[in-house]
Amino acid sequence: MEVVILAAGKGTRMQSEIPKVMHEVGGKPMLAHVLATARMLQAQKTHVVIGHGAELIKQAFSNSDNGVEPIWVLQSEQLGTGHAVQQAVTGVDTNASANPVLVLFGDVPLVSISTLESVISNCNDDSLSLLTVNAANPKGLGRILRDGDGKIVGIVEEKDASTEQKEITEVNSGIMAIPANRLTGWLDALRSDNQQNEYYLTDIVALARKDGCEIKSSIAKSEMEVMGVNNKSQLAQVERYFQMSQIEEFLLAGLTVRDPSRIDVRGDLQFGSDCIIDCNVILEGKVSLGSGVSIGANCIIKNAKIGDGAYILPGTLIEDSEVGENASVGPMARIRPGSILGAESKIGNFVETKNARIGKGSKASHLAYLGDVEIGDGCNIGAGTIVCNYDGVNKHKTKLGNNVFVGSNSVLVAPLDLADNAFVAAGSAINTDVPPHTLAVGRAKQRNIAGWKRPHKKQ
Ligand code: UD1
Ligand code: MG
Repeated sequence: MEVVILAAGKGTRMQSEIPKVMHEVGGKPMLAHVLATARMLQAQKTHVVIGHGAELIKQAFSNSDNGVEPIWVLQSEQLGTGHAVQQAVTGVDTNASANPVLVLFGDVPLVSISTLESVISNCNDDSLSLLTVNAANPKGLGRILRDGDGKIVGIVEEKDASTEQKEITEVNSGIMAIPANRLTGWLDALRSDNQQNEYYLTDIVALARKDGCEIKSSIAKSEMEVMGVNNKSQLAQVERYFQMSQIEEFLLAGLTVRDPSRIDVRGDLQFGSDCIIDCNVILEGKVSLGSGVSIGANCIIKNAKIGDGAYILPGTLIEDSEVGENASVGPMARIRPGSILGAESKIGNFVETKNARIGKGSKASHLAYLGDVEIGDGCNIGAGTIVCNYDGVNKHKTKLGNNVFVGSNSVLVAPLDLADNAFVAAGSAINTDVPPHTLAVGRAKQRNIAGWKRPHKKQ
């Protein structure tokens, strides 16, 4: 079996500069979904017909972790879906008998493997196989024409359909499996004498029928499964459907989601037992949750590993970072790339970390910036502590040993080394290393001026 994916169209109705198949569903371009489908079906070869934004598309899929790169076929002028398949056909083994060519559309991203398997199994040397669906709203789609015996005889596009034909609700999903050894002949016979002056792939149905072939059809499980994305409204509908079906799988696998309609997973999610996710959470990229992880409302977590029993409180952002076992983060913390928060550590409200290694049980409970730091175990970072990692030109590192105490509202000017058990007095500006077991006081001495008179308002 070979797969031909049509992805050359501009997608005028998307009203966008981005090629249509690059618009994302679940955080991945639509074309990535279709390529993944071809891979799961173990297609011998996958041809992708591209035109609009061809370079951009190729680039997006080169050296990505999408497996084998497909065979890119350029359709420089988009003269219709039939013309698009014509461009790919030279690379297809059209001599092989019983070799179905499965045509998928780059803008129909969510069709299931089981549905496609039935489409493929219906295709042989004397039969063409179509995937159709009964649409509640068939507007804009090709209608399936059947004869008095219920046999499919053709497909008519909306723009060419008579008022009567427009009443038909069985529509073409665009997906079909064509016997390879008949493909070239049928494609050669296509004409563009229609409303759109295009070579329609759908016209091969009537041609196959004339050749005495049987047209078999599989019916999609749901209208959403084969929904094509031609505009932003359809993109949003497909996204919702994708999210709901994905969340359903997570629920059945034991994840507690407070409201399945208020979570978005745009990537790969792994989770252990007894994890709870509250409302309005977005998980992006590769996210793994250990067991017993709790994520509060309104959190965004991207490419992160969260350890067993960790507690992420509401409004927290975590990116490219790791959170250790039983650690607590937030509410409203910002964990920027390269942060590794140790087991039982606590990062509290309005604390920002970046490229920060926080040791076991260390705490920064309120209002702090910890950038380019290595903090040992059992440290306490007082409220308002700022690590000055940037001198205006270069970034420098700050190192804290174990059991260091930093008093509130202190400024740690990097490069700086605070040894084990160092103690920084509140309100200090520290720019010199502090030895072990030493109190550092980096502030002007307080003076109390007795009998001081407050200024008076001028008359
Ligand atoms: C097409 C079908 C229609 C079906 C609908 C389902 C045809 C003539 N019509 O209509 O019967 O109901 O899909 O979603 O096949 N493309 C190219 N090159 C071209 C033209 C299109 O690669 O020259 C690609 C597009 O990028 C897209 C796919 O083919 O991925 C479908 O094209 P589109 O213009 O969206 O066709 P529809 O009007 O949706
Ligand atoms: Mg379409």
